[in-house]
Amino acid sequence: MAASTRRVTILDLAAAKRVRRPLTMVTAYDWPGARLVDAAGVDCALVGDSVAMVVAGRDSTLPATLEQMIYHGEIVARAVARALVVVDLPFPFQHLGARTAVEACARILKETGCQAVKLEGTAGQAGVIAAIVAAGIPVMGHVGLRPQAVHQLGGYRVQRDVDRLLEDARAAVDAGACAVVLECIPAEAARAITAAVAVPTIGIGAGPHCDGQVLVYHDLVGLSTGRVPKFVRAYADSKTAIADALARWRRDVEDRRFPGAAETLG
Ligand code: KIV
Repeated sequence: MAASTRRVTILDLAAAKRVRRPLTMVTAYDWPGARLVDAAGVDCALVGDSVAMVVAGRDSTLPATLEQMIYHGEIVARAVARALVVVDLPFPFQHLGARTAVEACARILKETGCQAVKLEGTAGQAGVIAAIVAAGIPVMGHVGLRPQAVHQLGGYRVQRDVDRLLEDARAAVDAGACAVVLECIPAEAARAITAAVAVPTIGIGAGPHCDGQVLVYHDLVGLSTGRVPKFVRAYADSKTAIADALARWRRDVEDRRFPGAAETLG
């Protein structure tokens, strides 16, 4: 079925869960990537703070700043016509109290043109989520492996405390979150959370029982440079294709085969 051209809203996310239609979300950071994500009919384009790792080559998401998220968010929101654009709240705004978090999310919404924010948190951030939602800003929660807490969690490890995961997800939903990302948790934990909460769960490394799936764009299209997690499936080998194009162009220039007649102006 062809995707409609109307903007996806948070009501569509809720409806998808009701009719058990799997939701799709992919990260996007720049104009060409965001256009491709939108043209593919993906439901949500996530401007993830993973931009710090996959685009800027940092070793965690912690260095992503509010200004950088707004810069990339504005590009993606302008490039995308249909998908719901979600921008990550970077570390540590959700830990600085409700007022500071609402101010940061309001800047993201106003200055990018996105439709929702995502924030990593435990049950301890429920009050902050409630304040952002009360300001009229849709919030996606993010529980399980929270990359912003990588040092506290002792690395990028599977999170197995099912009671704690359920508590965190329920707290986000009770506070008004419109969806919850579940990262790097056992499939059975994701199944239990998905059954327990009324809003969609969107999994990454959380198995097949979530209401939707999200992947990082560079992992999905085979452009990532570092180690790719086990839960990723690459649907293309773009890195090899681009490396090959660059090498062929360099050889053509060196052997005076480029530019040819077709690329030469009269
Ligand atoms: O920043 C990001 O890309 C994310 C996804 C991994 C869900 O939060």
